[in-house]
Amino acid sequence: MLLSYLRDRLRLTGTKYGCGGGGCGACTVMVSRYQPGTKTILHYSANACLLPVCQLQGAAVTTVEGIGSTKTRVHPVQERIARAHGSQCGFCTPGMVMSMYTLLRNTPQPTMEDIREALGGNLCRCTGYRPIVDGFRTFCQESNCCQGNGNGTAGCCLDGESPPEKSGNVSDSVPETEPQMSQRFIGENIVWISPVSLDELIQLKADHPQAPLVIGNTNIGPDIKFKGALHPIIISPTRVQELFAVTRTAQGVYIGAGCSLSVVKALLEGLVQELPEEKTEIYRALLQQLGNVGGQQIRNVASIGGNIVSAYPNSDLNPVLAAGSCKLSVVSKGGRKEILLNKDFLVGFGKTSLKPDEIVLSVFIPVSRKWEFMGALRQAPRKENALATVTSGIRVMFTEGSSVVKELSICYGGVGPCTVSASRTCAAIIGRPWNEQTLSEAYTVLLDEISLSPSHPGGKVDFRRSLTLSLLFKFNLQILHKLWEMNVIKEDLSEEMSSGIRPLPNQLQPGIQVFQPVVNGQSVDDQVGRPVMHHSAISQATGEAVYCDDIPKTDGELHLVLVTSTRPHAKIRGIDVTEALQVPGVVDVITSKDIPGKKFRTFTGVDEELLAENEVSCVGQMVCAVIADTREQAKRGAAVVKIHYEDLPEPVFTVEEAMEKKSYFQPQRTIERGNVTQAFEEVDQVYEGEIRLGGQEHFYMETQSMVVVPSGEDRELRVYLSCQHPTYAQESIAETLGIPSNRVSCHVKRVGGAFGGKVTKTSAIACITSVAAWRSGRAVRCVLERGEDMLITGARHPVLGRYKVGFMNDGKIIAADLHYYANSGNTADESVLVVEKVLLHLDNAYNVPNLRGHSVACKTNLPSNTAFRGFGVPQSMLVTENMINDVAMKLGRNAEEIREINMYKEVSLTHYKFQFDPKNLLRCWDECKEKSDYDSRRQAAGEFNQKNRWKKRGLAVIPIKYGIAFSEGFLNQAASLVHIYKDGSVLVSHGGTEMGQGIHTKMQQVASRELHIPTSFIHITETSTSAVPNTCPSAASFGTDANGMAVKNACETLYRRLEPVRKQNPTGTWESWVKKAFLQKISLSATGYYRGHDLYMDWEKQEGQPYAYFTYGACCSEVEVDCLSGDYRTVRTDIVTDIGRSINPSVDIGQIEGSFIQGLGLYTMEELQFSPSGVLLTRGPSQYKIPAICDIPLQFNVYLLSDSDNPHAIYSSKGIGEPVLFLGSSVFFAIKDAVAAARAEAGMDGPFTLDSPATPERTCLACNTDFTQKIPPSRPGSFKPWALNIP
Ligand SMILES: Cc1cc2nc3c(=O)[nH]c(=O)nc-3n(C[C@H](O)[C@H](O)[C@H](O)COP(=O)(O)OP(=O)(O)OC[C@H]3O[C@@H](n4cnc5c(N)ncnc54)[C@H](O)[C@@H]3O)c2cc1C
Ligand code: FES
Ligand code: FES
Repeated sequence: MLLSYLRDRLRLTGTKYGCGGGGCGACTVMVSRYQPGTKTILHYSANACLLPVCQLQGAAVTTVEGIGSTKTRVHPVQERIARAHGSQCGFCTPGMVMSMYTLLRNTPQPTMEDIREALGGNLCRCTGYRPIVDGFRTFCQESNCCQGNGNGTAGCCLDGESPPEKSGNVSDSVPETEPQMSQRFIGENIVWISPVSLDELIQLKADHPQAPLVIGNTNIGPDIKFKGALHPIIISPTRVQELFAVTRTAQGVYIGAGCSLSVVKALLEGLVQELPEEKTEIYRALLQQLGNVGGQQIRNVASIGGNIVSAYPNSDLNPVLAAGSCKLSVVSKGGRKEILLNKDFLVGFGKTSLKPDEIVLSVFIPVSRKWEFMGALRQAPRKENALATVTSGIRVMFTEGSSVVKELSICYGGVGPCTVSASRTCAAIIGRPWNEQTLSEAYTVLLDEISLSPSHPGGKVDFRRSLTLSLLFKFNLQILHKLWEMNVIKEDLSEEMSSGIRPLPNQLQPGIQVFQPVVNGQSVDDQVGRPVMHHSAISQATGEAVYCDDIPKTDGELHLVLVTSTRPHAKIRGIDVTEALQVPGVVDVITSKDIPGKKFRTFTGVDEELLAENEVSCVGQMVCAVIADTREQAKRGAAVVKIHYEDLPEPVFTVEEAMEKKSYFQPQRTIERGNVTQAFEEVDQVYEGEIRLGGQEHFYMETQSMVVVPSGEDRELRVYLSCQHPTYAQESIAETLGIPSNRVSCHVKRVGGAFGGKVTKTSAIACITSVAAWRSGRAVRCVLERGEDMLITGARHPVLGRYKVGFMNDGKIIAADLHYYANSGNTADESVLVVEKVLLHLDNAYNVPNLRGHSVACKTNLPSNTAFRGFGVPQSMLVTENMINDVAMKLGRNAEEIREINMYKEVSLTHYKFQFDPKNLLRCWDECKEKSDYDSRRQAAGEFNQKNRWKKRGLAVIPIKYGIAFSEGFLNQAASLVHIYKDGSVLVSHGGTEMGQGIHTKMQQVASRELHIPTSFIHITETSTSAVPNTCPSAASFGTDANGMAVKNACETLYRRLEPVRKQNPTGTWESWVKKAFLQKISLSATGYYRGHDLYMDWEKQEGQPYAYFTYGACCSEVEVDCLSGDYRTVRTDIVTDIGRSINPSVDIGQIEGSFIQGLGLYTMEELQFSPSGVLLTRGPSQYKIPAICDIPLQFNVYLLSDSDNPHAIYSSKGIGEPVLFLGSSVFFAIKDAVAAARAEAGMDGPFTLDSPATPERTCLACNTDFTQKIPPSRPGSFKPWALNIP
């Protein structure tokens, strides 16, 4: 594939690997091809991970390196994303840059809609997208900035000093003519044949009927990569002109089967403009779907023929083409024929009736006739770039001038092995007038006709069934409106009813970010408190920033691939590596027996086996590792390692099963204040409820990566890795190899996202990789593929929360008893610490006088879960807030009122007797309500809900009080090392790792203030255990607090040392003082140290000082929910946070926005699914949906609380990396509020269950519409579900 060719052969490492399957956009490049027809060059973005190099004959490829660099000139696209703070860890940035660059090549002044579409296929896990959008918005006509357009003619306020790059001269590299002869590329396992004529293609297909025709490679590529499909011969017909021809007739248009979906989209858009409306029904329905197929990069290469022939169960095109009576022209040696694209053609999962030697030449799409109408509706787990849960194409033809149905065709995707035609339902409608009675009878037939088994692959069975009904209902509303427009029926839809077809709002507005100005009189050179750009944002945007896998290969380097357990619980009876060792290139297979030192890694006092020796306890547990000359060879070797298992009975997967078997990690924790039992006797009302919260995959864009290099002498190893805790990796590796720590140095230049997932798990993999390097004496690289990473490294703990709450009729909560069951997976990891933090935060912002909590870490046979941003707090507080919500619903009041009644109001003690002043919490709350205009919007939402039957608005305001620092006091220390060189330049090392959170930028600001020099003098080098030893993890939102103080300390020492020379020459320059100091033999190097807070928690006494201080915040979100599909849109979010005096407001606002969006993902979208035998089913962006650009609030405002100080942290700042993630739950509770409105209309009041994430499925089913009520619930226990209900 082009990606490995660029990265490995050409050493162009700016293009990144994020998933390998076209789902993340990290590998985006621009492809340019000459179009002989129009004599123009077509530029399009594409995913390099799916682009076969053989297919690039005659094309030019532009990578991020090709558009600008710090060595020449930075391109405005690169500059603006950087200056708008749109690059944090930077791993997604080159892909974003290339998507935007390609858009500008084609559309120099794009609209916001163009930008949204161009970036729809690019994921970012750090920024929350808002700054990326704002940076690129400056290229738009409607931009609110200076409107420099980046085409080389004008600058922009976001451009720096470097003049903008003139558009690169790609045209020089695009040949206008290509060799007109067929080509063959013969590889190790594949022969690639590229014919030039149709005859040749037909002959090739006759000779090799089993060889696939690869055009976009978006089906075949993932099949080879992820499903192990083997294709010894591949035919690439991209040069066969006939496959790209477009012919128009009066009856319709023939579109060459090879045309990309983007070309088809542009063509149909043109036809819709040109033709009378009545002729374009089918075209418009197709356009509706085409906008949703994959991201832009996929649409640019995926062909219409490929989509049809791939016959996906949830293809978006086939239902429309089938319902629209489209035809295929097919050729083979046997001649040409036309066949209807219908149920006789789409015969099964991935199967059509095409004979192996037949080729689809073109697709005929007819114009529509008068009285013919077509609709295409779909529902997907994410609004864009997601395969549909259910998709449809419905066509109706009326007898002229009447509402009597003459023809009808209803086709669905997502409800069977292939596109399904609801012919019985159609028959029940044809010949009858289109009205409510006909339709309501049709729903009954449809329900019977499309009845999925409760175990249907993909699950969501009740939801899918209800969608078949509600999508038909939506079509019905569209048709009723049309019939009214055509004067067939007298009454148009009421406003209330038309809400069923009105699209959700979609217009992105510019957001507001407000922060405290620096204090009056602060020197302009003092950068503290100013919105300084991330220190490596520009090199991230140019692709020059070096991540672990970008490090050039060393001589003789080997690659390691892990072999993992396929059983949830089994004894290992033997590991047979004979065949693996015979695979060419395989050098060794590492098993537990090969570990020279300790076979366990220990964290928080708990041992965890590195490689399973005798027993496995989850699918995905590491058993052995294959090392080979190349990664492909190692993969081949790993595939033939044979592990003999003896299954052990009854694996435990859910927390209920764990409770039944008392399968817990110890200790369990309890905390209580007041007398809960007695208080329950005295309250007006008692309510018991529960909520389940699913896990969350870290989905850092850079997968786990490391390179271990033995130095060749003194048993030394240099380890380059992407991790948050290099010291722990160092110690673990040393123990594993049985050598002292001083022989292992760990180096972290930057991390492409971590979020808690690169502490323990990275160290375990680094230990195994080190054993491989140790044994082989050669450098070994291990970079996990996305699927492996998701399978092996665990996630956020799913939690079941149960509560009993006692309250008075005025809303005051008097007693609460909460139980938390965290699904920890097969090893303890940090689980006990996580469940402790759950208990420490169960009060959130509320003063409940009698409060009890109990939490356990359940041991199950799922992959071991680990730390994740928030470390249990997001789970804990969701349960608390849900409890408050239930109280409000019991009392028939708004949840915000109950929150206010119960909030801490004055200096108080928490349930663990920690004294604090909630003044700023209350200020955040009040300001949030005021800034968001909560009261009037709540009223407006009520009015909206009255007027709209099928759309509901909901609002929620959520507070947070989040404890900062490690409750294990020793983890709060930090150190630094600062050198001043004789030329005045300063090199700072500290213990924090740069993961996108901007710690290096802040450290630069700290050093600049303390040394009184501009930041340009200061360089922050990699984090290395040789420079700064015994570091603590970069976690707990405490990195800047601790390392900032350590850097400050070192700089203060140095500045003091310079005092004599400064005094001797007060008007001298920094450089002159430094030079002088050297001559006067003053040491220009100093270490800094920060002891940190002596925090603790005494679980026996149930009291402590586990935090240094609290970060406060409040967030108001408003959503609009489509009750018929469960789809929702966050209309607006306002966040107010108290982070003291921010050291760098733009970096901090970036953390706030990014973690909010991550929280939004956790609570509303991200679903990890496991099969009934414990196999993780969601192993890539195709199955696991993190928020994309389409999910961000349409208006997103962030305010940093003014006039706030914090005596407990550096420069009065506060930690902010984690707290705001929980505020994402405001979207969850806003959805719940909207659902409550829908239920109220159906006559259902009071508390109800909505588990997290509130996916479209859960939201729709909770709305309890007429359609969901029609679905007979499957009886639990009577079937094996497709996926487990975890926790
Ligand atoms: C990340 C991602 C997201 C996606 N999202 C969606 C989505 O939301 N909705 C949706 O509908 N689809 C989606 N798809 C599927 C995508 O649209 C199809 O994979 C694509 O259209 C297939 O076209 P291709 O040219 O890439 O096919 P290829 O992979 O090149 O070929 C696919 C198959 O089609 C056969 N074939 C191709 N052309 C012909 C021909 N002319 N005659 C006979 N056989 C032929 C080949 O032999 C091969 O078996 C997604 C795919 C990816 C990777
Ligand atoms: S790596 Fe290519 S799309 Fe993810
Ligand atoms: S900056 Fe986008 S993934 Fe990190």
